[in-house]
Amino acid sequence: MAKPSKWVERDKVKENVYWPNEEMKSRAWVHDASIYEEASKDPTAFWSRLAKEGLDWVEGWSEVYQAKPPHFKWFLGGKLNASYNCVDRHVNTWRRNKAAIIWVPEPLGEPVRTLTYMDLYREVNRMANTLRKLGVGKGDRVGIYLPMIPEVQVAMLACARIGAVHSVVFSAFSSASLKDRLLDAGAKLLITADGYYRRGKAINLKAQADAALKDTKVEKVILVKRLGLGVELEKSRDYWWHELRDEAEPYCSPEPMDSEDILFILYTSGTTGKPKGIIHETGGYLTQAYWTTRWIFDVHDDDLFWCTSDIGWVTGHTYNCYGPLSLGATMLIYEGAPDYPHYGRVWEIVEEHGVTILYTAPTMIRMLMKVDPDLPRKYDLTSLRLLGSVGEPINLEAWKWFFEVVGGGRCPIVDTWWQTETGGILISSLPGIGPIIPTVAGRSFPGTKHLILDEEGRPAPMGEEGYLVQIPPFAPGMLRGIWGDPKRYVDTYFSQFGPEYYFTGDGARMMEGEAFRIIGRLDDVLKVAGHRLSTAELENAIASHPKVAEAAVVGVPHEVKGEVPVAFVILKAGVEPTPELERELVKKVDEAIGPIARPERVVFVTDVPKTRSGKIMRRILRKLLRNEPLGDVTTLMNPEVVEELKSLVGYRGSRGASP
Ligand code: PRX
Repeated sequence: MAKPSKWVERDKVKENVYWPNEEMKSRAWVHDASIYEEASKDPTAFWSRLAKEGLDWVEGWSEVYQAKPPHFKWFLGGKLNASYNCVDRHVNTWRRNKAAIIWVPEPLGEPVRTLTYMDLYREVNRMANTLRKLGVGKGDRVGIYLPMIPEVQVAMLACARIGAVHSVVFSAFSSASLKDRLLDAGAKLLITADGYYRRGKAINLKAQADAALKDTKVEKVILVKRLGLGVELEKSRDYWWHELRDEAEPYCSPEPMDSEDILFILYTSGTTGKPKGIIHETGGYLTQAYWTTRWIFDVHDDDLFWCTSDIGWVTGHTYNCYGPLSLGATMLIYEGAPDYPHYGRVWEIVEEHGVTILYTAPTMIRMLMKVDPDLPRKYDLTSLRLLGSVGEPINLEAWKWFFEVVGGGRCPIVDTWWQTETGGILISSLPGIGPIIPTVAGRSFPGTKHLILDEEGRPAPMGEEGYLVQIPPFAPGMLRGIWGDPKRYVDTYFSQFGPEYYFTGDGARMMEGEAFRIIGRLDDVLKVAGHRLSTAELENAIASHPKVAEAAVVGVPHEVKGEVPVAFVILKAGVEPTPELERELVKKVDEAIGPIARPERVVFVTDVPKTRSGKIMRRILRKLLRNEPLGDVTTLMNPEVVEELKSLVGYRGSRGASP
């Protein structure tokens, strides 16, 4: 490879501040900071321009933005189809034979599969016709429970093509989680696979899916043959994907969808035990997906974009499907674990395929840094041009390693803040404008605005921690509601500071230059290895064991995963704690949620601190585990329990290393 280009330079005065150099600026789609001003003068006109320039519409809109806070709509009356925008319009250009998806399977000996835009077009059309033939129509919900194989993008786009609403469930979630989501969404069809490889092991996905289907509304199941496990098909319910595909008509006319028609539902964890079905609609979501991909990752036609997120998370939806494909970009997707079969796998893939943009999570960065900090140096990573981080705050040490060792000190890092609810990135620096500062995510994306408020809802002073909120006009890609629970939408996001303030659930600080430093969740949501989990879901899972009286779960800091759950468990009278029982409780979590939610530690206790009204004080449990000052505990219903807990967790009384 030719001499690697350099894209950033250090600030002449300030330490740890980087700016795009001339080469980066001349290549970047946006390189002039006046874009922020232009957008903020008239945000709706700005988004209107972007929607028009970025997407192909069947019919234009009559009104750009309409709001009755906390409800709002974008591009009213506009009609478009997401699959048309991701596939057809590229097939009508020179991109017809451009690679859309480069799929890297986990087993090393298995060939890489490349789907061009033409291939994708063919597959999406056939699968869309198949869905129609099986009785799926506009507005029907389709469950997708697939690993990282190209059929997952085909399935999503096929749904979008006929106006069906997809609800993708992470393939490592348990049967019980899948069942809850299928039931809540009222899905009538499920697309899954016989199995997939994870760390060399064949996972039987069909068995998990079968267990989930009982008592749901799912009438038909389409199975992708990934492993050839020889699974049993249930007559008149189960069909092989490849057989249906071969029988299907080659063209399916895309359904013109209203801009505000639902594109997908994606379940995420909130502060209660019941996951929320986040609703995203078509026009606004796609506009934000397109422009954030283009400007934040600065994607060009010669780039190879690799986002390591699984499709089951929102990052996978927006940056492993709708964003890059609506742009006509080439993306790489990888089936396996980043550390399998060896710790250099990620770097090997970057080298082999010439990945130019790598978007990943701090947890993966920390894990690979820890196992062997010099390993990336053994690979040729000079194709890399831009790096991205998402899902949790990135600490300075991990940032520096990512920047120096992976990026060779040449590549900007975009630290992108967003949520399942926001649909696309909302806070980040723009790589052609800068600055790039470790641990500072950056500014609100042009055309959006965030504030930091104090307890009373007043703007917090510069540099002080407060509540991160978004103010109108709300970004076009924002959620439009929670499936089947309109009240929860208002209560969760718009009750703290009123309907004009979308409350993110995160704490943050406003830094110099209108940039934000994200601190993390202020509620009972955990981010474990970047995965979003609720303490209540874990507590319910543990408390479902017949020997458990009550459980309280809190997160504690972890060197690699960022945060891990610790469970405090009160057993029923007469039950003795044993290692066997601990294993059974972990199994309960596996069954209810999946192995990603396993508690790092189970502490058997006689009681947990409670307020006089009986509410568990998780804050005190958290402080006990983090060796932080506990404050006044005398107002508790049971202050004596604190002493017992102190000795159980080895509390040292002041800030120190976490246990
Ligand atoms: O706490 C924030 C954290 O992830 C939460 C959203 O999680 P989820 O809906 O699973 O979406 C993750 C991927 C978009 C946020 O409320 N978070 C996300 N990005 C960052 C972050 N925390 C710090 N820095 C980030 N860049």
